[in-house]
Amino acid sequence: MSDTKAVVFDLYGTLYDVHSVVQRCDASYPGRGMEISAMWRQKQLEYTWLRSLMGRYVSFEQATHDALVYVCNHLKLDLDKTTCSELCDAYLQLSPYPEVPEALQRLNSAGLPLAILSNGSVFSIDSVVKSSGLHEKFAHLLSVEAVGVFKPHPRVYALACQALGVLPHEILFVSSNAWDISGARHFGFQTCWVNRSDNTFDELGATPQAVIGGLDELPALINARGV
Ligand code: LAC
Repeated sequence: MSDTKAVVFDLYGTLYDVHSVVQRCDASYPGRGMEISAMWRQKQLEYTWLRSLMGRYVSFEQATHDALVYVCNHLKLDLDKTTCSELCDAYLQLSPYPEVPEALQRLNSAGLPLAILSNGSVFSIDSVVKSSGLHEKFAHLLSVEAVGVFKPHPRVYALACQALGVLPHEILFVSSNAWDISGARHFGFQTCWVNRSDNTFDELGATPQAVIGGLDELPALINARGV
């Protein structure tokens, strides 16, 4: 990783815990929070991939909303307008994983530009990052909105090269989502998979150069590779 000139992060599930919404889901549907959250996230991702294939881009908020409607229909849960908008709002205020603020601080001190490249809209990325107070850590917040297609489409990864003015192999891309790492690797980024929960990597023809258990391991990894 000695060519690394910038570190680019995925947002949902990598820096911020999508299951921060469990509590809010539990408040409306007691005891069902984790089940709803897990299915909601999976469906949200499927909708982003399917909409990309169909050439029918909608904002991440819309995909998130549509996925919640599906989940409640599927689980036969009543979803009134107020509950729907409160649950979707919870997605705009996710918590960062506990180790994230300090790891970003250490990377800032090392002088590498940091960016987020996310399927979120400009509005959702801004809301999540600002509500956690981590806005200043990043040189760029990059949304797929600019290209109207979701990751893992290569046009999205190209956004990071344009914004940072660097070549693909000069970017270290960090994500917890194995499918995202696979897309980024095929594009030509260096990649680091954050595997917090002993997950299995996807079989999509690409493997990450590094695997870590949490972001706290990232500064040492970058130092060890001679950046
Ligand atoms: C993102 C999702 C895919 O932030 O995790 O892009």
